[in-house]
Amino acid sequence: MKVRKAVIPAAGYGTRMLPITKAQPKEMVPVVHKPVIQYVVEEAYYSGIREILIITGKHKRAIEDHFDRSDLPKRDKYMEELDKILSDVNIYFVRQREQKGLGDAVRYAEAFVDDEPFALLLGDTITLPPCTKELIEVYRQYKTSIIAVEEVPKDKVSLYGIVACKPIEDSVYLIEDLVEKPSIEEAPSNLAILGRYILTPGIFECLKETKPGRGGEIQLTDAMRLLNKREKMYAYLFKGKRYDIGNKVDWLKANIELALEDGELAGEIKNYIRSLEVSLRT
Ligand code: G1P
Repeated sequence: MKVRKAVIPAAGYGTRMLPITKAQPKEMVPVVHKPVIQYVVEEAYYSGIREILIITGKHKRAIEDHFDRSDLPKRDKYMEELDKILSDVNIYFVRQREQKGLGDAVRYAEAFVDDEPFALLLGDTITLPPCTKELIEVYRQYKTSIIAVEEVPKDKVSLYGIVACKPIEDSVYLIEDLVEKPSIEEAPSNLAILGRYILTPGIFECLKETKPGRGGEIQLTDAMRLLNKREKMYAYLFKGKRYDIGNKVDWLKANIELALEDGELAGEIKNYIRSLEVSLRT
């Protein structure tokens, strides 16, 4: 079955970005020309998806406004690009009632997803090139849940969901187990879940059976652990770049690196960085 739908959880507080996120959603933090969540919606769109559900929560209304039609008379190429996508996709919103974790937020997608496989994209993460497109290609072959992972340094494993798995072919692994934010000692590998998934609808039954885990929250990783006992699941090693915009260093890096790839900005930014290099040396 084709992956036609995407779910974008955007309900978390963004505490690592305070006070930037005191009165605006972390998904609305700008990266060069646009807010983070626009990159995420574009990723789903350019991966062939036309039905998108964004899971919001308290203080997230700016996200809905961003994807609404604009009455501004002035149109530049960035606004036109956004209009083009908006005229071609259906974006729906649902609000998480209480902050009970990522797993709880995903539960709100059950009616939207129905009985189809779906892409799940964390709303505060940018991947380049679009990871979802690659996951959908792998899904066509394996036809079951596939989670994108990347290698992280050992001392960072406790920040991520980590998978235990065995290699099947280049970049594809069969998942044996998953653990949310393990200590270095407990971590079965350094393959970290990066925020892009293709999941079968079986995840919803697993989410219902999942008790609060790390931090007292309903963890998606715990539900996937259960799903893995019922269905085969694969991990896909993503070789592109991932920026977690809920973290200030990644956010700054994303701005610099994406500005360096932007035709209009690259020249000036390169000159600026060269000038910094000189002053950093002295
Ligand atoms: C969430 C997931 C975690 C995943 C991470 C990727 O954690 O729970 O499994 O590795 O996103 O960014 P969070 O970053 O919301 O704490």
